[in-house]
Amino acid sequence: MALLPLDPDQLLTTTRAVRRRLDFSRPVPAELIRECVAIALQAPSASNVVTMGFVVVTEAAKRQAIGALYREVYAVYKASPAYAGRQLQDQERAAQQARVARSADYLGEHLGESPALVIAVNQGSDREQALAGMGSVLPAMWSFMLAARARGLGTAWTSMHRAREQEVAELLGIPYDTVVQAVLSPLAFTKGTDFQPARRPEPDEVIHWEAW
Ligand SMILES: Cc1cc2nc3c(=O)[nH]c(=O)nc-3n(C[C@H](O)[C@H](O)[C@H](O)COP(=O)(O)O)c2cc1C
Repeated sequence: MALLPLDPDQLLTTTRAVRRRLDFSRPVPAELIRECVAIALQAPSASNVVTMGFVVVTEAAKRQAIGALYREVYAVYKASPAYAGRQLQDQERAAQQARVARSADYLGEHLGESPALVIAVNQGSDREQALAGMGSVLPAMWSFMLAARARGLGTAWTSMHRAREQEVAELLGIPYDTVVQAVLSPLAFTKGTDFQPARRPEPDEVIHWEAW
């Protein structure tokens, strides 16, 4: 499949969290997922050891079970002070946060309908070591998402299912004692491919030149 005509900066600035524009009606070919994983494996990893893994779920019953669990965790988040729709510092930001909240609400209801779910994991000799090495799976997952975007696929980084991680581990046969689930993302073709850069702070708001 041809890649979208995006230069590196366009790819990096238009890979959005896609939720309402996921096309649930179109299956994602396994070969495309393999390509994304091959690219993800080029990401940096501690000691150049591959401890990360990608659990890809396409079976409907499993997706629905994960979706139901995510819906429950999302309901708890929605009632909490951390809910995106409650982060209303100023008017412009409030409008942006309201959009994010609406979009996240949608995923809360529909995650399990995505044709594929991808769980990025990190493995260790025990759970503590697997957790300590999480830095090895996060860059890989972001690379996966960039590679997906280049192929017309949408993803959305989520991690709140970790509140019920053990149940997902049991459902999928993931060894809970040695494998930590870092990220859960839907994976689907997007409805249209015209994603735009988002409003973000100016660089100097976050750069600390020479010292804090
Ligand atoms: C650590 C982390 C956790 C996140 N958790 C969720 C989540 O549980 N549900 C969700 O819909 N989006 C989640 N997101 C996605 C963010 O909401 C999203 O990246 C942010 O709103 C910016 O959106 P944009 O990339 O489309 O500009 C998470 C992102 C990160 C980095």
